[in-house]
Amino acid sequence: MGEILRVRGGRPLEGTVRLPSAKNSVLPILAAAMLADGPVVVRNVPDLADVRASVAILRALGLTVRRRGPDLHLLPAAVPGWQLPEAPARTMRSSVFYLAPVLHRAHRVRMPLPGGCKLGPRPIDIHLDGLCRMGARAACEGDWLELRAPGRLRGIDYTLRLPSVGATETLVMAAALAQGDTVLRNAAREPEIQDLAEFLNRCGARIEGAGSPVIRVQGKAALHGARHQPIPDRIVAATVAAAVAGCGGSVTLLGTGQDPLGPVAGVLERAGCHTDHPAAESWRVQRQGSLRGVGLVRTGVWPGFSTDAAPVVAGGLLAAQGDTVLEDTVFEDRFACAEGFALLGGQVCRRGRVLAMHGPARLHGARVRAADLRGGAGLVVAALSAGGESVVEGAEYVRRGYADLAGLFRDLGGVIQSETQR
Ligand code: EPZ
Repeated sequence: MGEILRVRGGRPLEGTVRLPSAKNSVLPILAAAMLADGPVVVRNVPDLADVRASVAILRALGLTVRRRGPDLHLLPAAVPGWQLPEAPARTMRSSVFYLAPVLHRAHRVRMPLPGGCKLGPRPIDIHLDGLCRMGARAACEGDWLELRAPGRLRGIDYTLRLPSVGATETLVMAAALAQGDTVLRNAAREPEIQDLAEFLNRCGARIEGAGSPVIRVQGKAALHGARHQPIPDRIVAATVAAAVAGCGGSVTLLGTGQDPLGPVAGVLERAGCHTDHPAAESWRVQRQGSLRGVGLVRTGVWPGFSTDAAPVVAGGLLAAQGDTVLEDTVFEDRFACAEGFALLGGQVCRRGRVLAMHGPARLHGARVRAADLRGGAGLVVAALSAGGESVVEGAEYVRRGYADLAGLFRDLGGVIQSETQR
């Protein structure tokens, strides 16, 4: 039994959307909450499948976790567990975030190798290499991983092999309670890393340089609790903006912060969208005229064009006049959604990391299947701009990163329903 999204496309989108807290902030922050000796409140946490999996892991590790309205309230474990529950841990990549906090709490941690979207090989060697240099010992039994750290983790001066977002977050969490100071070089710079550091600093940590390639952490003996409002979800913002590009119309995003889309905004403007800030903390995207291809767009680590935005922008530009070529430098298999784009009438050619689209293309309804979270969202975006009825199967992938994507687009005038497939 799975979930499908039934879409009748071809209508412009109009209205306002309040952005949820960023999934890729909330997930590491929920793990980092284990480092605090006191109560933690994470504000406005979206009801995502990956959040539910995180709550299941935290509860299995002994924490008290209660949802109070939009907020999650967490209390420390009296006796911290050290084995992650298999089912939720296997559903997402973010289970890797529990390595450092559980090591600090229980001096050992056992978990299945993390799951998550199949975007190509997703090793965790940098996470493990950094933790072992801090004093942990790692062992693998089949697809189970166990780390032990009899003593306290020690601060290190460490250069990451590549600026991995998750590995940077793991090592920031490990350094926050380590003995001594840590310097992380070639660190990832994504906004969500800055958000994690801000949360931990509110808990009494001493982290400087988050958002830059060099992060310095003074290890503390203990951290207290804190309340934190994560940053808005820039990939949800990109998803809505790409849908406006494809469908036409005018949508205002609320709670956006200064620059919610980074380089994505410039690409959509090249495609024919107009963007402005009608008020503080808001950002409007409109497309009334023709939709144009944007030539070559290469993704990259922040502050480059986000890999997660590539499939949704592809969905929005599928019918554009001219050529768009998207190359993902981060993941090998980012464009599994190319097959669905072709079924919807797009003129696409996918070769490995590169997705080439040519237009104009007359998009029509089709039955397509999501293979991952952002590819599924890209298929929804394309179906919204296609004439006729489409069905997107595998919509349970989409639920991992969007609480209710169908409801969000219905509120903007889209005709889209979520159904359970027998
Ligand atoms: C985070 O994944 C995000 N997930 C991803 O978003 C995002 O696509 C990715 O960063 C890149 O921005 C969360 O934050 C929960 P990486 P992560 O480690 O940490 C290689 C979404 O749709 N690598 O920066 O797994 C890896 O194979 C998700 O919201 C190693 O080789 O990404 C990949 O090629 C999808 N060894 C590259 O680095 C390691 O130890 C980037 O991965 C770690 C990573």
